[in-house]
Amino acid sequence: MMTKVTDYLENNKQRQLSELMELLKIPSVSTDPNHKDDLKEAANYIIEQLKALGFKTELRPTKGHPIVLAEYFVNQKLPTVLIYGHYDVQPVGPISEWDNPPFEPRIIDEKIYARGASDDKGQIFAHIKAVEALIKTTNTLPLNIKFLIEGEEEIGSPNLGPFLEQEKLKLACDLVIISDSAMIAPNTPTITYGLKGLAYIELEVIAANRDLHSGAYGGGVPNPINELAKIIAQLHDKNGKITVPGFYDDVIEISATEKAAFKKVPFDEKEFAEEIALKGTPGEHGYTVLERIWARPTLDVNGIKGGFQGKGAKTVIAAKASAKISCRLVSNQDPKDITKKLIKYIEDIAPNYVTVIARDLHGAKTALSPLDSKAVKLTAKALEKSFDKEVVFARTGGSIPIVNNFQEELGVDVVLVGFGLENDGAHSLNEKFDLKNYYDAIKASTEILNELNNF
Ligand code: BES
Ligand code: MN
Ligand code: MN
Repeated sequence: MMTKVTDYLENNKQRQLSELMELLKIPSVSTDPNHKDDLKEAANYIIEQLKALGFKTELRPTKGHPIVLAEYFVNQKLPTVLIYGHYDVQPVGPISEWDNPPFEPRIIDEKIYARGASDDKGQIFAHIKAVEALIKTTNTLPLNIKFLIEGEEEIGSPNLGPFLEQEKLKLACDLVIISDSAMIAPNTPTITYGLKGLAYIELEVIAANRDLHSGAYGGGVPNPINELAKIIAQLHDKNGKITVPGFYDDVIEISATEKAAFKKVPFDEKEFAEEIALKGTPGEHGYTVLERIWARPTLDVNGIKGGFQGKGAKTVIAAKASAKISCRLVSNQDPKDITKKLIKYIEDIAPNYVTVIARDLHGAKTALSPLDSKAVKLTAKALEKSFDKEVVFARTGGSIPIVNNFQEELGVDVVLVGFGLENDGAHSLNEKFDLKNYYDAIKASTEILNELNNF
């Protein structure tokens, strides 16, 4: 039976790729209201794919973008897996810096280039194509499958949490599989067991009621850009620690066992720096780069705005300046608590001669999974068979807001099996997904689903 699946995959490579390319053409940028219809189109495209395979599908509207729900029920005795993913993508950024237009997918050197190719359209689509191969070759599935594919992951899943709470019965399952992360190295099957949380704020500093001549006023008035820079500079101390009082209260220290395990992971600090042309890797003292990225909380300015940005020079003192600031959190930090502490600290250190407004944008809870669950063991077994290579257990600095809800509210194990690569350019320029990774993901998914029959 398995040879038949392999044959099917071999014979359908081209079509399985061009169908992904159709999805990649749809500019489903969730943060941009102008793309609302594109999100609907992407959702409908996925619905049509699943419907054609015999899934019972529903497109559930939300206050934001719709949720794709699909179910293939075989029988009650079989376990049920829920496969989660997202069809929304990040904004493209400076479009002129892309080598190819982000929504005109192109294949170059055995890689498919497009926004969303890796994060997450290519990865979720691989599961759909695996399910297709199983259904077309066996007329059934080795277990009951539910798909839950949302359009708001990249904006913090604001509507999926409440949806999950309302639809617990409909989403009931034995475990959740998610492919929305990366492999630690090419051709190295990876299970991610730790996700960071997130606390994201926007900060505005306002001084005068209009922009001012920097000669006529400079020295006599506060400069909101200078003041914003001073505030930001005070958020870390000289040892790279975050200065917000109480920030580290709930942080679980990295255990000696885990530190030792990190050392065995194929990650080289020098190669890491070279790959992105970095001159150095500063950060919190006392921790390796990998420890900092995977298991220590961080604070970063994501963007900063203010004043004159045009060509040449203009002598001016801006009326206001602003910044977007995010903290990546680790267990057991709570995003709401951290946001509160961060805003309070900023208000405390801000000078009273400027107006400082701090707003909560969104957050995500952290997630840690046990490594010895049945769900992880069966998935690892299938991955090792598919790749003929030992699985690496990794953490990540990334966040997937809904994972914590799956664990807490559905009470099930979540297995993160990523098929992307860290250098795929997710959220960056020239995002790509290696064709090898796409096809390997499809094959591995068929193995995982077969193995989960034993759950
Ligand atoms: N797929 C990523 C999460 C991820 C990134 C997992 C890197 C593993 C490695 C996801 O689409 C993402 O970007 N999440 C956001 C969440 C945020 C908007 C709440 C993130 O991490 O910035
Ligand atoms: Mn993603
Ligand atoms: Mn993302």
